Amino acid sequence: MAIISASILAANLASLSEEVKRVENMIDEIHLDVMDGHFVPNLTFGFPMIEALRTFTNLPIDAHLMVTNPTDLIKGFVEKGATRVTVHQEVCYHLHRTVEYIKSLGPEAFVAINPATPLSTLEEILPYVDGILVMTVNPGFSGQKFIPTMIEKIKRLSDIRKHKNYQFKIAVDGGVGNENAVELVKIGVDILVMGYGVFRNPRLAQLREEILNASADM
Ligand code: DX5
Ligand code: ZN
Repeated sequence: MAIISASILAANLASLSEEVKRVENMIDEIHLDVMDGHFVPNLTFGFPMIEALRTFTNLPIDAHLMVTNPTDLIKGFVEKGATRVTVHQEVCYHLHRTVEYIKSLGPEAFVAINPATPLSTLEEILPYVDGILVMTVNPGFSGQKFIPTMIEKIKRLSDIRKHKNYQFKIAVDGGVGNENAVELVKIGVDILVMGYGVFRNPRLAQLREEILNASADM
């Protein structure tokens, strides 16, 4: 069953708790984009934001760490309530160690890859991860356009999972919404991260229905 992970970067942050409440029964989890202005050209949320979220929601929270030093931040996000930590392959020198560290603290461990990072860089880590987050835009901002060639990349990842009998989940992040969510579910995506697709989507309820139906057909 594919699920919706709501990226609060696209929400109206001036009234975040109302924003989350507005969509809460149509989403499955919260996606927190942590950006350091260094690994990506934007600055966003840190520990105070996950603390604030935890005062008004019990939904699972994925901390997507778009920072050059993810390992230093993992424990803090877990202590403050992250149920999944996603780190980027591009900045982890010792990716296996980092993945095992996340899992040892309790949450799910996901590895993200940028659009230009080949799947081959994940070959040795796939047996250990709970999931792979395929970036379908260059990380940094909400509301960007989905990069079409990522469809082929996701299909290849889905094929590898099938042939090797791996259990990891496939998540996609960036430019996902009404036009492509169903197609993504059909090629094997389990988690649809959506910013605009959730918070700026007047037909979110219908989209959720379509995603559920597409999942049921799988
Ligand atoms: C991009 C972030 C995404 C982004 C998604 O760097 O990692 O999570 O907020 O936003 P949309 O769905 O609007 O592209
Ligand atoms: Zn993200």
